[in-house]
Amino acid sequence: MKIIFASQNQKKTEEIRSLLPKGFILENLLDLNIEDDIPENEPTIEGNSAFKARWVFQKFGLPCFADDTGLEVLALNGEPGVHSARYAGAARSDQANMDLLQLNLKDKADRSAQFKTVITYCDQDQELQFTGIVSGRISEEAKGEHGFGYDPIFEPEGLERTFAEMDLAEKNNYSHRARALAQLLSFLKKM
Ligand code: IMP
Repeated sequence: MKIIFASQNQKKTEEIRSLLPKGFILENLLDLNIEDDIPENEPTIEGNSAFKARWVFQKFGLPCFADDTGLEVLALNGEPGVHSARYAGAARSDQANMDLLQLNLKDKADRSAQFKTVITYCDQDQELQFTGIVSGRISEEAKGEHGFGYDPIFEPEGLERTFAEMDLAEKNNYSHRARALAQLLSFLKKM
C-alpha cells in the first residue's frame, strides 16, 4: 500500500520509513514533485495538521498523513504554539525564536511547557488524529548540540537535561513526535 507523508522533510521521512510495517511504501511531497509549501494558516496545531492531510488527499486521492507540532508554554498562555516555527519572524530562525521566548519568560516564575504533535491520517473512508505530548520546562540556559528548534532549552519532566543534550534515540524515548507516530504506526499495522 502506498501512503503519502505531507512533508518535504527528508529526515523525518526516512525516520518514519524505517519504522513502517512491511508492505507500506512511503512517499513525501518531494517524491511527488511538490516543492511549494502547503499553507499553514489555521489557528490551531490540530487545524494545520488536518488542513495539510486533506490538501494532499484531495490532490492525489491516496492514503496520506501530515504532522504539525508546537511548543506550548503555560505562562505565555500556550504561545508560541501554532506559531512555533515563525515565533520571531518569517525567517524561521531557531536562535531568534529561543531568544524571544527567553525574553518573554524573563519575569515568569513558572517555566512549564509542553511539546505537542498532532498527526492527521486521511483516506477515502476516514480521517483520524493522533496526539503526542511531552511535558517539561524551559531551561534558563541553552544546553546541548543535538536536535533542532527549541531542543536546547526544553527539559522533559523529571530530567535536568535538554533534548539537545540527547541523541535522537534517547530523545525518541520521550518525544511528542515519537509518541504520536507510535499511535499512527499501531493503527497502520491493524489495516
Ligand atoms: P513542525 O510542525 O514539525 O514543522 O514544527 C514547527 C516548529 O516547532 C519547528 O519549526 C520547531 O521550531 C518546533 N519544533 C517541532 N518539533 C520540535 C522538536 O522536536 N524539538 C524542538 N523544536 C521543535
